[in-house]
Amino acid sequence: MLELDTCGDIALQEQLDGHNPLRHLMHDIELEGVIASDGLARVSASMSELLTVLPQQSHSVQDDLLILSFVHGWDSVPRPLSISLVVDAAPGCGGLAWPAGQILASYLVQKGPEYIKSKNVLELGSGTGLVGLAVGALGGANAWITDQAPLLPIMKRNVALNNLQGRVAVTELNWGSPIPADIPHPDVILAADCVYFEPAFPLLVQTLSDLSDPTTVILFCYKKRRKADKRFFGMLKKKFAWKEVSDDPNRQIYNREAIMLAQLFKL
Ligand SMILES: C[S@@+](CC[C@H](N)C(=O)[O-])C[C@H]1O[C@@H](n2cnc3c(N)ncnc32)[C@H](O)[C@@H]1O
Repeated sequence: MLELDTCGDIALQEQLDGHNPLRHLMHDIELEGVIASDGLARVSASMSELLTVLPQQSHSVQDDLLILSFVHGWDSVPRPLSISLVVDAAPGCGGLAWPAGQILASYLVQKGPEYIKSKNVLELGSGTGLVGLAVGALGGANAWITDQAPLLPIMKRNVALNNLQGRVAVTELNWGSPIPADIPHPDVILAADCVYFEPAFPLLVQTLSDLSDPTTVILFCYKKRRKADKRFFGMLKKKFAWKEVSDDPNRQIYNREAIMLAQLFKL
């Protein structure tokens, strides 16, 4: 399997994806280890630099929680800002805290509460809910974390665990489906590591388009894994332009791990 992966034959890779659409994610889990709950001990040398820009991670042995601590300089926010997460791969890949989500959450914490003040902030493909929970913990915004039905229980547990029930709402939102009536028009849309499954590419573009207008701030954190991802960007460019976020001091480090944080602009 590894030999085939490195040959770069896109047609063959897509055939393999057909058998196991999530195989490149499994590759991440096995080789990088950074997203595994006990991952710190298994991180490869190339990933150790990335760890310097991810939030500090520890585990509560008692409750088997992952605790992510974000260092910041905001007086109105507890220092560090800590988010506790139940992580569980059983409901799907979203039950883990992926590096792109950690990077997007870190960026938002560094931008601080003013950046999202009084805004409706909606996260797509939230998984554990980390990014939206960080928004909720900063305060001053109304946050919605959304995903498919199997992820909702873990998202609800994580909202309760962080006492964010009044600030973060959990809603099912399947890309490509009509936007649920209880979701208001968002001022800010967030998405991390949502490009990995080719049949979902047009659905994600459709939902981004349905939710946004040219004034919507859309932050999109993307991990490049395979050549087929370019098809997503081919679809995206019919409705959006994008620009890499340039004011993140950690950018060069995560860029080296093929992670990019971009702002999308609805055309
Ligand atoms: C790789 S995980 C990333 C999770 C989280 N954003 C993070 O960075 O840790 C991708 C997420 O997209 C969600 N997802 C995939 N297809 C979806 C769809 N059609 N509708 C809604 N969510 C979807 C998955 O359930 C999963 O939570």
